[in-house]
Amino acid sequence: MAHRILLSFALSLAALHLAAQQPAPNIPDKFTNLQVLPPNITKPQLVGLMKQMAITMKVRCNFCHAVTDDLSSGDFSSDEKPTKLEARKLLRLIQQTAAPIQPPHE
Ligand code: HEC
Repeated sequence: MAHRILLSFALSLAALHLAAQQPAPNIPDKFTNLQVLPPNITKPQLVGLMKQMAITMKVRCNFCHAVTDDLSSGDFSSDEKPTKLEARKLLRLIQQTAAPIQPPHE
């Protein structure tokens, strides 16, 4: 009897463990290939921006990133996809445009 209880306890622990190991999106905590965004950007800021881009363009992360559809594997820092390079140009353009506009010389 005690064995059974122990066994079912062990099984439920195992199930919990499995649940915790569901393929979690592998969005890294440290970014290694930022060329436009500031190096000190936080993860929530970066992910917020990425989600906004994805929603605006009606695409998923792997439109630009060499990652699987469920984000469980791949590499966000890779520049393999031309769409990412195009999007980087767009970010650069936005950054330049957002810079303070100089008043015209008189
Ligand atoms: C329209 C293209 C596009 C989409 C869609 C997109 N990203 Fe990005 N992502 C970029 C670009 C461009 C960069 C590089 C920015 C730079 O160089 O400063 C980047 C950088 C990143 C990085 C930093 C990688 C590193 O180590 O340098 C992560 C993490 C990331 N994106 C996650 C996501 C996630 C998660 C999604 C989906 C919610 C997503 N991205 C959707 C274009 C995109």
